[in-house]
Formats: sequence, structure tokens, C-alpha cells
Amino acid sequence: MKALVTGGAGFIGSHVAEALLEDGAEVLIIDNLSTGKKANLPQKAAFLELDICSEELKKVILEFKPEIIFQLAAQIDVQKSIFDPAFDAYVNIVGAIKLLEAAREAKVKKIVYSSSAAVYGEPCFLPVTEEHQILPLSAYGISKHTVEHYLTAYKKLYNINYSILRYGNVFGPRQDPLGEAGVVAIFTSKVLKGEPCSIFGDGKQTRDFVYVKDIAAANLLAAKAPGSQIVNIATGVETSINEVFALLRDLSGQNQSQVIRKEARQGEIRRMVMSTEKAKKEIGYNSKYTFLDGIKETIAYYQNGKI
Ligand SMILES: NC(=O)c1ccc[n+]([C@@H]2O[C@H](COP(=O)([O-])OP(=O)(O)OC[C@H]3O[C@@H](n4cnc5c(N)ncnc54)[C@H](O)[C@@H]3O)[C@@H](O)[C@H]2O)c1
Repeated sequence: MKALVTGGAGFIGSHVAEALLEDGAEVLIIDNLSTGKKANLPQKAAFLELDICSEELKKVILEFKPEIIFQLAAQIDVQKSIFDPAFDAYVNIVGAIKLLEAAREAKVKKIVYSSSAAVYGEPCFLPVTEEHQILPLSAYGISKHTVEHYLTAYKKLYNINYSILRYGNVFGPRQDPLGEAGVVAIFTSKVLKGEPCSIFGDGKQTRDFVYVKDIAAANLLAAKAPGSQIVNIATGVETSINEVFALLRDLSGQNQSQVIRKEARQGEIRRMVMSTEKAKKEIGYNSKYTFLDGIKETIAYYQNGKI
């Protein structure tokens, strides 16, 4: 398989590229290194430092002629999307449109798109299925969802297949502990240093934490699945922020770290857990890593710099 991975120098994209290479694919990574790092790039992948919004993108795609594109390049900071929604829309929507236009000309067969649970907003029922209403609470959720519409339209207009993968909270090695995106990365890094962790509100808010290697495996399954689909990629297991902290403290053997309780953040979703039944049926996805397995590997990564 000849695959283009956008955002492949980032946290999830680098794992997707790695899984593709292990599967024997030829991989070209495009990334502007805005949050991604060269150190994340798998050795065997070709790499081009390029912005998906740039004019050069089309030329590169027409020359490489990928069969499939994994679209992960994005502005992922929810707070930033609220302060600067135009920038968020430019990268996440306009960037994706430029990619789709190039894909159309290059006769790409399928696009595997990294979407998010953020498209659902506050859940009306749990676990959240793909039929749940779409009511995003942030510009980020809106931009991630808008691209889903373009993908379904491009399928109808130009017969480009898509897999829209709506992820839960992804965690694992290479996630940036300095960013605002990953509570597991932030807590792991702090707990290992014996530093306090901030918990907003009572800590009973829950998320569906999914290990990054399950996400990478889901991308491969989606690429090989026939037709087009929209599926949740998560675990179906609900874990509270208090549980994350307690587990990290127990497993790291570092019990100096304390909790600083802060006022609950406005607009924060209270509970989130996602159904993965449709992903099982349509692409054969089953999460292989429990939260405990994933946390153990993540701690090992932060302790040794690598796993
Ligand atoms: N981390 C999560 O929990 C999560 C959950 C749901 C969906 N997602 C989606 O998964 C994808 C990857 O997220 P991540 O957590 O690995 O974040 P990340 O920031 O580590 O990766 C994003 C990558 O895209 C690159 N990038 C950003 N703008 C670009 C541009 N204009 N042109 C080229 N490259 C650009 C960055 O340099 C980075 O390497 C994103 O699309 C995100 O919306 C992530």
C-alpha cells in the first residue's frame, strides 16, 4: 500500500505511520512540525516538511500518487479553537479541503480521517453511539465535524471512499505533556517527578481513554475495510480523572505527588464513554489494550524516554 500520512510527526500520526510500515506499506509523511517533532518520525518513512494549506501540497500528492491518505494534521487545541476559531477553521477545514482536492485529482481511493468525540458535545445518553446528535461545544468540534460532511460529499461526487474515525481520549507514548490535550501525559510526567497534579472540580468526570496503539491498529483496519464508514474508536470503558491519578500514583511507585483541587472548568463534559459496536461490525475493530496495559507502557516510556 502506498500511503500518505499527514501529521505523521505528531503523537498519533507517528504511531499510524509506524503501524503502516510494519504492515509493509510505503509511507510519505507530511507535517509542518507546528506541534510535531522530527524525533517522532519513523526511520523508514519518507518525510516532507510541508503545510497542508500550502499551494505545494497538490503537486506533492500528484507526484507521490498515494492509494490512501491518512488525514491527521490538525490544530488540536480546544482552548485555542475557542480563542482563535478562524485559525482553527483554516487549518482543520481549509487544510482538509485542499487535501481532498488534491486527492480527487490524484485519484486516491480512500481517506482515513481522524475525527473526535468532540463532535457529539455533551452526551444525551451513554455509551454514545454514532447515531447520537451532533452538537459540538467548541470550534474544534465544529471544524472536525465539518470535514466529515466534505468527505461524505466527495464520496457522492467523486467516489472517494472514507473512513471517519471518531476517537475517544487517546493516550500513550509521544503525547506532549506540555499541551492541554492529554490528561494522562500531563499527570504521568508530573507524578514521575513527584509534582502535584491539578484536578478541576470533584474529579468524578469521566472519559473513554483509548491507547494509541489501538488507534493505529484501527487506522489500518479502516484502510483495508471495503466501502465507507463512520465509526467510534474507543474502548467502551469509562474512567474518572480521580481513577487516572490514583492508578498512576500506584503504578509509578511515586506516592509523593498530591492533588491540587481547582474550580470545575466551565463547559467541561461530565461523562463520556463511547460504543464501539459499529466499529467491531464494520471494520473488525476490538481494543486490545486495557487502560491498565496502556498506562503501564506509557509510564515506561516517560521513565526511559522510550518503550
Ligand atoms: N489526541 C486525542 O485524544 C485525539 C482525539 C480525537 C481526535 N484526534 C485527532 O487526531 C489527530 C492527531 O492528533 P494528535 O493528538 O496526534 O496531535 P498532534 O498535535 O501530536 O499531531 C498533529 C500533527 O499535525 C501537524 N500539523 C498541524 N497543522 C499542520 C498543517 N497545517 N500542515 C501540516 N501539518 C500540520 C503537527 O505538527 C502535528 O505533528 C488530529 O487530527 C486530532 O484532531 C486526537
